[in-house]
Amino acid sequence: MAESGEDIRVLLFGLGAIGGFYAFVLGRNKNVSLSVVARSNYEQVKSHGLSVQSENHGNHKVNIDQIYKVPDEITTPFDYIICTHKAVNPGKVPPLLRSAVGDQTTFVIIQNGVGNEEPFRSIFPNNTIISCVTWVGATQISPGVIKHTKSEDMQMGLLPNSNIAKELEQSRLDTLATLLKAGGTVFQVENDIQIKRWEKVTWNAAWNSITTLTDVNTQDWLKSSPQAMATTKRLMHEVIDVANRCNVPIEHKLADDLVSKILAMPGIFSSMHTDMKEGRPLEVDVILGYPIKKATDFGMDVPVLSTIYALTTAVNGRLSKL
Ligand SMILES: *[C@@H]1O[C@H](CO)[C@@H](O)[C@H](O)[C@H]1NC(C)=O
Repeated sequence: MAESGEDIRVLLFGLGAIGGFYAFVLGRNKNVSLSVVARSNYEQVKSHGLSVQSENHGNHKVNIDQIYKVPDEITTPFDYIICTHKAVNPGKVPPLLRSAVGDQTTFVIIQNGVGNEEPFRSIFPNNTIISCVTWVGATQISPGVIKHTKSEDMQMGLLPNSNIAKELEQSRLDTLATLLKAGGTVFQVENDIQIKRWEKVTWNAAWNSITTLTDVNTQDWLKSSPQAMATTKRLMHEVIDVANRCNVPIEHKLADDLVSKILAMPGIFSSMHTDMKEGRPLEVDVILGYPIKKATDFGMDVPVLSTIYALTTAVNGRLSKL
C-alpha cells in the first residue's frame, strides 16, 4: 500500500467501455498514477488519448500516465489492478499479470458473472481481491471514445482472504472506496458481494442467453408463447437454487422481481447478444458455465439451465470458428 503523500499505483487491464469509464473515475484523483493495458484500441489511445462523453459527468480526456500493449512490459508492481476485460476464458488472464503483481497488490474485478475470482485466488493466494458488480451503461463508440449514459451504480466487497489480516484487507477496500468517491461515481460497499454477483447472474443467465439464442428482444420473447415466461422463470429458479447450494442466500422471489423489472422496460437485447451479432466470443463460462459446474459438483438436476448452457455453448463454438 502506498504511504500517504505517495502516488497510489493503479493498473487498469481491459480498456473497453467499462474499463474506460473507471479509468476516467480513478484518473480524476491527483494522487493516483494510472497505467492501462490497451489492446484493440492501443494505437488510438496512445496517439489521441482516451475520452469519455458522459451524460452524468460531461466530456473529459482521461488522465493516463502510462499505456502498455501487453503486461509483460511492466516492471514495477501495482497497488491496485483493476480487471475490466471481457470474461471469456477466465483462467487465461491472471497468469499474464504476474509482472504487475507484488505482495501489496489488490485485484479489483469488475466483470459480469460468478466464479471470476477463482483463477486469481488460485494463482495469487496471498493477494486481496475486491469483487465488483457494475451497472454502468457505456459503449465504445469508436476506438478510444467512450459514451456513458445516465446509468451508473456499482456494488463492491471483499472476497475474504484468510492469509491476510482483516484490518489490512479492510484498509485496501477503504482506500479504493476513497478513490471512487473522489472520482465522483456511485457505489455501495457490501458485506457479502456474492449475493449481488449471483443476483446479477440470475438476470444475465436469462436475458443474455435468451436474447442471444433467439435474436428476439425481452418483451417480444416473453409474449412469444405461454412457455416463454414459464421457461424463463424456471431458469431463474434453477440459478437461485445453485446460489443457495453455494451458501449464497438469495430468495426465490427474485425471479418474479426480475421479470417485473424487465416487463417495465422496453424490450432489450444484451451485451452477449451484441457479441453474438459482432461475431465475438461470449461470456458463457462465467454466466452459465460456473453455475453448471457447481450444479454438477452438487449433483443437482437443473434441466433448463443445462439446456440453455448447451445451446449457448454451441453458439459460442460457432462464433469462435468464424
Ligand atoms: C503465500 O504465503 C504463504 C505463507 O506466508 C507462503 O508459504 C506461500 O508460499 C505464499 N504463496 C505464494 C504463491 O506466494
